[in-house]
Formats: sequence, structure tokens, C-alpha cells
Amino acid sequence: MLILAIESSCDETAAAVTDGRRVLSNIVATQIAEHRIYGGVVPEIASRRHTEAINQVCDSAISEANIKYEDLDAVAVTFAPGLIGALLVGVNFAKGLAMSLGIPLIPVHHLRSHIAANYIENNELEPPFLCLTVSGGNSILTRVTDYTKFEPIGGTRDDAAGECFDKTARALGLPYPGGVTLDKIATVADLKKYPLPFPKISGNEFDFSFSGLKTAVINLIHNLGQKGEEIDVPVLAATVRQRVCDMLIENTLRATEKYNYKKLVVAGGVSANSELRSRLSEECSKRNIKLYYPELKYCGDNAVMVGVQAYYEYKDGNIGDTSLNAVSTLPIDYR
Ligand code: KG4
Repeated sequence: MLILAIESSCDETAAAVTDGRRVLSNIVATQIAEHRIYGGVVPEIASRRHTEAINQVCDSAISEANIKYEDLDAVAVTFAPGLIGALLVGVNFAKGLAMSLGIPLIPVHHLRSHIAANYIENNELEPPFLCLTVSGGNSILTRVTDYTKFEPIGGTRDDAAGECFDKTARALGLPYPGGVTLDKIATVADLKKYPLPFPKISGNEFDFSFSGLKTAVINLIHNLGQKGEEIDVPVLAATVRQRVCDMLIENTLRATEKYNYKKLVVAGGVSANSELRSRLSEECSKRNIKLYYPELKYCGDNAVMVGVQAYYEYKDGNIGDTSLNAVSTLPIDYR
């Protein structure tokens, strides 16, 4: 089933042609360089750049796949969650295209597609499994009971893990997107040098909280600056990374134990984090849990993952119509 998938939820305009889990093309036009000068994504600029790029990006995906628009069986699009103006560009383009070609339109939830990024290279992977999805806007733990059935068991009460990385990095003067840079420069030396809190919360044992840590880092940076003390940026970066990973890993492993999972999947932009990957690999091999994460090129936003998830949504009868709208926030288990 040939699907043209479109993704425009944040700062990447992406299109891909997929056939089930097979990738025929993968085009990503990133806006990172433009947002970098502002230290973060400027929503209006993102929408305008999507509008300019979307036609060309889709044409490139079609020609790279060596097909014609008329060969397509469906058009899929990320419709939620994300920046509303950015999502609307993709949704409207996909609606018009599906209508003009007379083929189905498949709406795809952004976090579901991040999870599906794991199906691309891991042919044997199928639900059920536990999934930790960590990105710039979301951090959730989900029981994936089937390709289109999701049971969230915990999530962040405040900031996402990626946001904590990005804001910390910005306060340290590192370029956007900060999480990537922070991970690259982090040097594990004296992790006791900076007294950052180990985030702890009461209530749901699978929830996360990162805003306290974020505030503590920002205050520490300001205090050191006021005293004229030089900051050891690589060590502070490593300390923040360790605290974030501690919380993500502890809760995730607790959930694998409670629900007796032997398959764990990590998804979303932060799944590229080197410490998260190495520590989880070690812990999972000790516990005889098979760990999956996406190839690095599929960790961030792309349209291949949208096409792969769309295939399963289509099989489950999840088809959109001309009234499809973009939605800025929507739980992963929406019906
Ligand atoms: O999934 P994604 O591309 O976009 C959203 O859907 O949010 O995730 C982007 C987030 C950003 O916060 C970015 O800093 C973070 O993923 N990220 C990382 C790494 N690579 C990307 N965070 C920590 N370590 C990394 N290596």
C-alpha cells in the first residue's frame, strides 16, 4: 500500500513514501538554522516555512520513490499534537491532495508515529510492549497493547524531558536544539560538583517532573554568574543529563517489573540521548529485557514514521474526511 506521508508538527517539513514498513523515500527540510537565532522555535515562522516548503518536499518524496502521484493509495498526515499553525499547513495540503487524487486521507497522532519509528528497522518488533516516548514536548510511558491501542500509565506533570534539556542548554549559551548539543559536550567527570536535585514526586509512581530540575539549573547558572565564577559547562551538562536519565530510567524499569514486560521501546527525539541509550541497554540486558530504539535518523521528526503508523491506522479503519482539523494537544489513546 503506497502512502505519501506528511509531517509538519514543529520545525521540520517532511514527506515520505512508504509501503507498510518499507521506506521508498524520506525527505526532511529542516528549519533549525532559522530558529537557532531566536534560541527556540518561533511558531509563526515555522508555519510560513512549512507553507513555502511543503509542495517541493512532497514532489521530492514522490520522485525519490520513483513513482507518480497517481500511483499512491493514500495520503497520511500528522494532525496532532503540535504547533497549531504548523500542523494546519500539513493537514490542509494533505486534504487537498487526497481529495484531488480521490484516495483516502489517514490522520496520524504524532506520538504514535514516534513509536512507529521503531518498526522501520526492527522487522520483528510487534506489540505488546512498554514504550517510553520522550521528545521536546512530551514525556510519557505507555503500554502499547496493539498497533493502534495505547494505555498511558504515566507522563510528565510539567515540562517534557527534551524541554528541560533545551532550556538548560539555552541558559548555558549552547545553540538550539540544546538537547543534542548538551549531550555532545557532556563530560562525565565530577558529577558531585554541582548540587542539583534528584527530582522526586509523590502520587503516580510512573509520572515524571522536570520543571524543578530546570529551575534549579537556571538558578545555579545565574548565581554562579553573579559571583563571577566560571561554569564548567561540560560537567554541568553531564550532571543535568544524569538527573533526567535517572528519572526516566527508574520509572521505566519499575513499570517493566510491575507489568512484567520483556520488550521495551524508546521513542521520540530524546531517544537519541547517548546516556539514556547506554544505561537502558545495560539495565535491560541485566533483566533479560529486549530493548528497541529507532535508528538515529528516525529519532527526530520525519515522515517515514508517519507513513508506517498510517498503514496500521488504515487497517484499523481510522480514515479522515474533509472535516479533518489540526489539534494542538490530544492524548495518545484518543478515539
Ligand atoms: O521528537 P522531536 O524531534 O520533536 C518533538 O516532537 O518534540 O524531539 C526534539 C527534542 C528536542 O528537545 C531535542 O533537544 C531533543 O529532542 N534531543 C535530544 C537529543 N537529540 C534530540 N535530547 C537529548 N539528547 C539528545 N541526543
